[in-house]
Amino acid sequence: MSQVAFRADLFHMTDDPALVGAKDACGYIPDGLLVVEDGFVKAVGSYDALAPTLKDGTEITDHRGKLITPGFIDTHIHFPQLDMIASYGEQLLDWLERYTFPEEAKFASEAHAADAADFFIRELLSSGTTSALVYCTVHRQSVEAIFDAAYARNMRIVAGKSLMDRNVPDAVRDTAEGSDRDNRDLIAAYHGKGRLGYAITPRFAPACSDEQLTLAGKLLAEHDDVLMHTHLSENTAEIDWVRELYPEAKNYLDVYDRFGLLTNRSVFAHCIHLDGEEFQRMAEADAAISYCPTSNLFLGSGLFNLREAEKYGVKVGLGTDVGAGTSFSLLETMNEAYKVCHLRGHRLDPFKSFYLATLGGAKALNMADKVGDFTPGKEADFIVLDRAATPLLERRLKNTSEIDELLFVLSMLGDDRTVSHTYVAGECVHTRD
Ligand code: GUN
Ligand code: ZN
Repeated sequence: MSQVAFRADLFHMTDDPALVGAKDACGYIPDGLLVVEDGFVKAVGSYDALAPTLKDGTEITDHRGKLITPGFIDTHIHFPQLDMIASYGEQLLDWLERYTFPEEAKFASEAHAADAADFFIRELLSSGTTSALVYCTVHRQSVEAIFDAAYARNMRIVAGKSLMDRNVPDAVRDTAEGSDRDNRDLIAAYHGKGRLGYAITPRFAPACSDEQLTLAGKLLAEHDDVLMHTHLSENTAEIDWVRELYPEAKNYLDVYDRFGLLTNRSVFAHCIHLDGEEFQRMAEADAAISYCPTSNLFLGSGLFNLREAEKYGVKVGLGTDVGAGTSFSLLETMNEAYKVCHLRGHRLDPFKSFYLATLGGAKALNMADKVGDFTPGKEADFIVLDRAATPLLERRLKNTSEIDELLFVLSMLGDDRTVSHTYVAGECVHTRD
């Protein structure tokens, strides 16, 4: 048994503050100790209480003055959109045609996919993101590339091949049978390998034939721990198009529902324009929403209604949605999430923000039994946040005494510079210096 320990201020969310109140939803331990054994959380508590209980010879890494939190969980991101992040001027459907599909076509090359996957994983880790639900391209080699890169760092990553057999350019189009074969091969090769998981990933309803969605639903039903990951109700022109393609469906969500794709393992990105009936169905099915504020603002898609999701009791996590999103940083994503909620007329408190970025994301991805907080037995994925990462942050935080204010300022002024170390299963995989 190898035991190590980390000394710092510790903070984690153990429940949804909107349900139980902030006081009962978080744990804050000034001068705490996080004890890790064989990559799992062994104990968490004050330094004074835990130090005498350590096994002889346990190495203590000293991060005093900094704040340790669980690693961030990004519930929606596209690894092949690295090279066209920040592309000017379009809303969703034109942005896909003009920038996204041509870039994704390059992932037919294994070498290109491997290079992008390596960069992408480094970018996640330097931003403090230790788990993510990842879109690949239509090419199976893109999925192999991201899984190989994540496996090499022992990360808990869920990914899947983008299914798209109609209404897209030839270079990024597959077929229903071909995609089913690829999905099955990829599940056999990667699902459950180390900490990797598979997600059946239809691009969005307009890009998938009925046959492709039927096969996707069938495959989902065959595996009780594979996720389903897609886009839903992001842009009004997209919704009009879905209505034309599926006049018989009650609404956009109903299209996925009819194919067996609405389950408690389904994650839907965006969900900006859902009506009450759709929220109700999402709640009944125990499906999850990925809230992607930087993307929703960048593409001019609209303002997600977090209060409505809370009212119906739908699981929500945060997503960056790079490359429609403009940052890998979940801290910057919390910043934009706060502003979107403000425009919707309510306050997003910092406990809820940190919940969405950690345990809320873990629940959305059905991995809350493994990551998301520091409950003993969970995998020790965590990050070290530096209060003095920038002169402005340091100056502002000298004027702060309460934990909620510290968290709020970190979420407004923080970014990848704030993350001084990232640990995956107890191993340091990124240091800022
Ligand atoms: N809908 C279908 N594909 C995409 C994509 O790549 N990004 C976003 N934001 N929405 C989509
Ligand atoms: Zn997306």
